[in-house]
Amino acid sequence: MNDKLVELEIKDLAFNGKAVANNEEGKVVFLNGGLPGEKVLAEIVRSKPRYDEAIVKEIISKSDLRIDPPCQHFDICGGCTWQDLAYHAQLEFKQKQVVDCIERIGGLKDVKVFTAVGSAELFKYRNKMEFSFNANEDKSFNLGLHVKRRFDKVFDIEKCFLQSDLANEIVIWLREFVQEHSISVYDILNHTGFMRFLVIREARSSGDIMVNIVTNYGEIPSRNELIKKMKEFFPEVKNLIHSQNGQKSNSAVGEIEKVLYGLGYIEEQILGCRLRIRSNTFFQTNSVQCETLYRAAFDMILPEKTDRVMDLYCGTGSIGLLIAKHAYKVVGVEVVEDAVVAARENAKVNNINNIEFYHGDVKDFLRSEYATDKSYNIIIIDPPRAGMTPKALRRLIRLNPEKILYISCNPSTFARDAAEIVKAGYLLPEVKPIDMFPHTMHIEVVGVFYRE
Ligand SMILES: C[S@@+](CC[C@H](N)C(=O)[O-])C[C@H]1O[C@@H](n2cnc3c(N)ncnc32)[C@H](O)[C@@H]1O
Repeated sequence: MNDKLVELEIKDLAFNGKAVANNEEGKVVFLNGGLPGEKVLAEIVRSKPRYDEAIVKEIISKSDLRIDPPCQHFDICGGCTWQDLAYHAQLEFKQKQVVDCIERIGGLKDVKVFTAVGSAELFKYRNKMEFSFNANEDKSFNLGLHVKRRFDKVFDIEKCFLQSDLANEIVIWLREFVQEHSISVYDILNHTGFMRFLVIREARSSGDIMVNIVTNYGEIPSRNELIKKMKEFFPEVKNLIHSQNGQKSNSAVGEIEKVLYGLGYIEEQILGCRLRIRSNTFFQTNSVQCETLYRAAFDMILPEKTDRVMDLYCGTGSIGLLIAKHAYKVVGVEVVEDAVVAARENAKVNNINNIEFYHGDVKDFLRSEYATDKSYNIIIIDPPRAGMTPKALRRLIRLNPEKILYISCNPSTFARDAAEIVKAGYLLPEVKPIDMFPHTMHIEVVGVFYRE
């Protein structure tokens, strides 16, 4: 037997979606593949002083939690890590992850962590998907998702279970169009070629779709035919955007953006609020579960007519707009200009007049007179995965609001920031994990800190 092959019993799942076991000497082994309770034969691929990394080669005894993944791409796709794990078990592991983070990273022992709230839809729940083009050496190309752990390899998606059937049809159709018209495709390693990304966004309430084709610099060859056929075959595509990005970094955000047809936005309805989404603006990717998340946030702060509220990292203003109907005044803060434009439009289309939006970095806003002069009693924060910067967090705490509502898509940075907020004299009685992303290891957390 290969001396790197070992028999291991999987004990747990880690934050990064890997399985965890201990070898004979008790050393931790992180594995790609395998579920808790399973005996596996694994190949050790890397050995570090504190842990080993391994790949499962064979499952010797299966867990009762293992299910058949419906997706044909499951074995190679880097997307859904846990499609082979029963959903109730996914939720249990996600809740445990939140508990672990709060206790170990945050050092907070008395926080009640509710059972994770499951998503009403387990498939087709994403309203945004980003696909990459990649040219191969033999002149063929792929349009799809990245192969597991490979930034340089893309495979053709036939059907992604996380998006709608229509979105799957668009991927296949565009791949064929590019092939038929011999349009050059970007080579991720050599940084040459034209077609780079396809981003599809879909408003669940209206069924309207926005297609954003991201390319290297230049006009799309056969552009008029592309527009004509897209309109003919996919009337649901209300917006076709062409974004140009010539930077080497692998980002689907364009430096130059042209609306080829449509208004440049699609509209979603969340809890009765009309929300415009533009190509480069953040929007919660699971529209149905977004309502659950916002309702939970709302119920946790229960805004009153006297409340002055800050909505930091506000995106297109959604949370602030929902709160504004019940509060005295709201100010939203967002760094992406397009999102601020959309947020102001959203206030207008919903006839909400007691909300303003500030375009800029949260850390600068928090020391501006605008923030320090007026006494905001509720501050909502919904930062990106990295959490708040230490400077922004210090400035937030200095404002000393009665309540801080923290919405986080990363329990570890939530726990790190929570430790600082509690140290500054706030109580965090409970948090609610909400699953926005079934079959992935991601989990959203919402909690309110009360000034003691
Ligand atoms: C997780 S999203 C939340 C958006 C919004 N609350 C929602 O539910 O749709 C984080 C937002 O913070 C914005 N952002 C990131 N860093 C920022 C900063 N330093 N200052 C202001 N906004 C920032 C991003 O552009 C993004 O729109």
